[in-house]
Amino acid sequence: MDPHIALVTGANRGIGFETCRQLLQTGYRVILTSRNAEKGREAARQLEGIGAGLAFHPLDVSNPESIAALRAFVEAEFGRLDVLVNNAAIHYDTWQKVTAPDFATVDEAIATNLLGPWRMCVAFIPLMQKNHWGRIVNVSSGSGALHSMGSETPAYGVTKAALNALTIKLAKAVAGDGILVNAVCPGWVRTDMGGAAAPRSVEQGAASVLWAVKLPDDGPTGGFFRDGKGVEW
Ligand SMILES: NC(=O)c1ccc[n+]([C@@H]2O[C@H](COP(=O)([O-])OP(=O)(O)OC[C@H]3O[C@@H](n4cnc5c(N)ncnc54)[C@H](OP(=O)(O)O)[C@@H]3O)[C@@H](O)[C@H]2O)c1
Repeated sequence: MDPHIALVTGANRGIGFETCRQLLQTGYRVILTSRNAEKGREAARQLEGIGAGLAFHPLDVSNPESIAALRAFVEAEFGRLDVLVNNAAIHYDTWQKVTAPDFATVDEAIATNLLGPWRMCVAFIPLMQKNHWGRIVNVSSGSGALHSMGSETPAYGVTKAALNALTIKLAKAVAGDGILVNAVCPGWVRTDMGGAAAPRSVEQGAASVLWAVKLPDDGPTGGFFRDGKGVEW
């Protein structure tokens, strides 16, 4: 069988980059995307020679035209997509108060963390439906869990909670199409976003994502997981 084709957003650094590496090592063909083309090409160069092959394409998930251009590229080059990892995100806004936020920051967080994955799913689910097979992983966060939600990181927490809701809705919409849609928390990871004090490595964070990529056909859908174990919403 041909290797599955996997696309990762925000993959020039952090968990997205490591997810690409682990996908390649596991035998997937990978489309690494990055909003900064030069940084993305450099990241792709670092992964050269691993596994079944890597392609790069620019992608700003907050820009619908950029998503349309990527979709045209994937259709022309590969004719299909099997795995979508919605990893890109911004504004872990520890500096903001929910009672007095900068709404420009909130807008950017919504455009990137919620509308980005949403538009990506709308663009690529039809390619998965053509083959009656797909895996979508929305990289979420414990910050989006309603049961333990505090007042901190308002833009980030609200957009990740909304991403979780979107995950459930999409999973139900494509049930029966062979497409599994799950939200995954990578844990608190040492990246630019997570900071140096985080207890987990990027390898551990990306492994949490890979678990949901590699689910068998009878695996769960519409769930929220960390390290393959359910997380309370
Ligand atoms: N690190 C943690 O502790 C932690 C915990 C829970 C959840 N997460 C989640 O894990 C995922 C990856 O986080 P990370 O720690 O690897 O973060 P990171 O190091 O800050 O990397 C974020 C990535 O997203 C990209 N990005 C931002 N806006 C984008 C846009 N509009 N279009 C395309 N790409 C964009 C960034 O690109 P640039 O380089 O151009 O900025 C970068 O590649 C995120 O969804 C995050 O919310 C992380």
